[in-house]
Amino acid sequence: MAVAGGARAEAGFRRGPSDDRKSSRMIKVTFTDSQGTARTVEAQEGSTVMETALRNSVPGIDAECGGACACATCHVYVAPEWFEIVGKPSQIEEDMLDFAFEVRPTSRLSCQIKVTPALDGLAVMTPGKQG
Ligand code: FES
Repeated sequence: MAVAGGARAEAGFRRGPSDDRKSSRMIKVTFTDSQGTARTVEAQEGSTVMETALRNSVPGIDAECGGACACATCHVYVAPEWFEIVGKPSQIEEDMLDFAFEVRPTSRLSCQIKVTPALDGLAVMTPGKQG
């Protein structure tokens, strides 16, 4: 794939002031805790929602297994309006969710949610307690 460099001008490329040099897109994710405190952070495409939480010191995500879908301490509730876009858990994740506290229909393990541009604006709630 050709990468446009410097002053190279090609038909069809829009000249603009901004962000041709961004290699990955920043995507916003909002975490709201059980007390109602919301934190909106930037997530990197390709990382997971759990990694995003840890990187930004979002409380309420323990992630004891480091993202191996083996602990259920990264449990979140996906906002209802986002659940269809995020999608359902895999069978393995569903089995692991049995070990999470207070599971709801929109529960997911945040280490299993990959950040994509389609998730820009994603809202999740962290439970009152984890494993
Ligand atoms: Fe352990 Fe997600 S970090 S299941």
